[in-house]
Amino acid sequence: MDDRVDTKRRRFLTKVTVAAWAVGGTVAAFPFIRSMTPSERARAAGAPVAIDISRLEPGQMIKEEWRGKPVWIVRRTTEMLDKLMTLDDLLADPGSERSDQPAYAQNPHRSRMPEVLVMIGVCTHLGCSPVQNFAIGPASGLGDDWPGGFFCPCHGSKFDLSGRVYKNVPAPTNLVVPPYKFLNDTLILVGEDDGGTA
Ligand code: FES
Repeated sequence: MDDRVDTKRRRFLTKVTVAAWAVGGTVAAFPFIRSMTPSERARAAGAPVAIDISRLEPGQMIKEEWRGKPVWIVRRTTEMLDKLMTLDDLLADPGSERSDQPAYAQNPHRSRMPEVLVMIGVCTHLGCSPVQNFAIGPASGLGDDWPGGFFCPCHGSKFDLSGRVYKNVPAPTNLVVPPYKFLNDTLILVGEDDGGTA
């Protein structure tokens, strides 16, 4: 076969293949977007996210997502809340004066309702995701006096059960509290508060 004819034919086939792929990809994307639930579409767009905490027991944590970031919700026990009041000397910013949270969360429990903590699960050092370690003392593997909290495995930052950072670790500030409000006793809207949508 003539080389020029062969080259032309190959170019033509390449264009057809690319066009078919592009059309196929677009067609495939629409059913995917349509198949998302309303709340999934809201998440993808960064809209506020409603989170049901009706099954969250004291001492437990659930993980959700808002704007592509992990959102943690912890229902703290009375013992956990009591322990928070004893840690100030160990913390880098116990009053959350240098940290990022709405005004209603600038208190020792860093939340609207003392029992329920809402927080972004991203380390304020370099953005790793800390892990929860609610065990107390030796059982935690973090020392005999560990009162329960969060540990970042990347460079060793530690946070208490309000997300307040300990002294002498790489993370400079407490974990971020996003804007949120309660829609009722068991439904939290993350991404919006009385000041409007974040
Ligand atoms: S990213 Fe968490 S300690 Fe460095």
